[in-house]
Amino acid sequence: MLRSHHCGELNENHSGEEVILAGWVQKIRNKGFIVWIDLRDRYGITQLVFDEERSPKAVYNKSLELGREDVIQIKGKVIERESKNPNMPSGGIEILVRELTLLSASKTPPFTIENETDGGDELRMQYRYLDLRRSRVRENLIFRHKVTMVVRNFLSQAEFIDVETPYLIKSTPEGARDFVVPSRMNSGQFYALPQSPQTFKQLLMIAGFDKYFQIVKCFRDEDLRADRQPEFTQIDCEMTFVEKEDVLAQFEALIQHLLKKIKGVELGDFPRITFAEAIEKYGNDKPDIRFGMTFGDLSALVQNKGFNVFDSEELVVGIAVPGGANMSRKEIDGWIEWIKRPQIGAKGLVWVKFNKDGSYKSSVDKFFDSEDLSLWATATGANAGDLIFVMAGPTQATRTRLSALRMEIAEQMGLRNPEEFAALWVTDFPLLEWDEETKRYHAIHHPFTAPRKEDIGLLDSNPADAKANAYDLVLNGNEIGGGSIRIHDTALQEKIFDLLGFTEKEAQEQFGFLMDAFKYGAPPHGGIALGLDRLVAILGGSETIRDFIAFPKNNNGRDVMINAPAALEDAQLNELYLKSLSKNP
Ligand code: AMO
Repeated sequence: MLRSHHCGELNENHSGEEVILAGWVQKIRNKGFIVWIDLRDRYGITQLVFDEERSPKAVYNKSLELGREDVIQIKGKVIERESKNPNMPSGGIEILVRELTLLSASKTPPFTIENETDGGDELRMQYRYLDLRRSRVRENLIFRHKVTMVVRNFLSQAEFIDVETPYLIKSTPEGARDFVVPSRMNSGQFYALPQSPQTFKQLLMIAGFDKYFQIVKCFRDEDLRADRQPEFTQIDCEMTFVEKEDVLAQFEALIQHLLKKIKGVELGDFPRITFAEAIEKYGNDKPDIRFGMTFGDLSALVQNKGFNVFDSEELVVGIAVPGGANMSRKEIDGWIEWIKRPQIGAKGLVWVKFNKDGSYKSSVDKFFDSEDLSLWATATGANAGDLIFVMAGPTQATRTRLSALRMEIAEQMGLRNPEEFAALWVTDFPLLEWDEETKRYHAIHHPFTAPRKEDIGLLDSNPADAKANAYDLVLNGNEIGGGSIRIHDTALQEKIFDLLGFTEKEAQEQFGFLMDAFKYGAPPHGGIALGLDRLVAILGGSETIRDFIAFPKNNNGRDVMINAPAALEDAQLNELYLKSLSKNP
């Protein structure tokens, strides 16, 4: 046995016991005649003491040669510490070491393995196995494990069956680019890695599995952001003989259960908001509803009053910043500069102070009097003491910009508290979107999403107005899931493919298997996929999913530790019929 206990479990109750511990040298303090070493393993830290008088001389001498991250095994006796550390579970004891074995020596690590490390991002990614020794990063992964277990147990108890689906498949049209894999046995042909198991889970419903789930890797070749990785994990689910309400109820229950179990938080019923309403009120289809500052459309109130900046624009819209009336000119100017940055791209901001005494002061006093401004206050829900920011411009862009401002102000005011949780459903997304460039419709969600029953007729007259029977789950301003009721009827599916610009032949080639399956008794079905990485990150108080993935990619989609992607040898390229590529690295 290499150890009798781990480094997190010994305390005063073990005083006097002989123990064997193994772990990594975290920290060494040498006082001349006594050496203290913090020994670390996954479970915690235990203090070792090597004493010139009380330890065997050879053991004491050997301890002087140890360095950070050496892996050692010790035998010794648990003794109570003279000065106890009440902040550590094992802070009341230390081990007086009798025997010391160096199991594996360590080079000096490139950064310190402590909560606050001196390693930059790239360096820590390169030595990810060392970064993972830091308790903060390790705790994130243990947290992820806990979340996954709660989800698995919940779904299993609700009679969902975990079925694995293949990774080597043909493109699924989820909207992003595919990662492709050349086939050695089929010259010139490629598999694609799944962007999601969408078509397979639908086939499982046709096969009669009734309720399916899978915690599954998905692959999308898209640009990276804090909440996006090229390979990420979905909690993918599908149910048979259900309508939208059944799916929402089931997954609302899952999220409520998860929040209760993991965070001890009771979430009430999730509010619902339509896509159109979300855009109008928040400028965003994944609104953070933990704070107000909802949009007030001022266009009708302010246009044609002789103020050209407003008159010439499509939309004039404002938000009330709570308590903002005491912002200084400098702070206001700071926000104006912020929205003018190229990433936001707004031209400017009009501001109105609704002072505590009920008076108004604005940057447009020449054009609008107190009576006008009081109407703005009503429209934006401003109270005395608030500041109103107003933006004008093209409808869509202006909403997006004001949404960015709303989120940033909330962030800086501490209104985006990571320990507070608010979930909601966004429904009634448009089914299709016209693309000017390709002159055809695109599926907003994916081509298998059913339109709302009442909108099926619109597919012939005005497809762009048809709403999808689809829903997104939003938590704290992040899209953590999306799903829909599916089409289960060949004729309707064919019509959608037709609107998406597929010829009959193309549709048959790409999705013949699914269309055929629909002809053999396809039950009504629907489902959802939750983004596990995002869900875990948000529950863990962060919006950066990388911190909750053991071996993530960097912003260029590279794994800098194993140095992937990488070029292939000619012989390998040859075997894959890709020889010519080696000439154009
Ligand atoms: P969708 O494309 O909305 O739906 O994906 C579901 C959820 O997966 C997460 N997600 C991501 N997380 C990290 N990195 C990424 N690159 C990434 N892309 C998506 C999001 C998102 O809400 N097959 C459908 C689901 C269905 O209809 O049942 C699908 O994949 O949290």
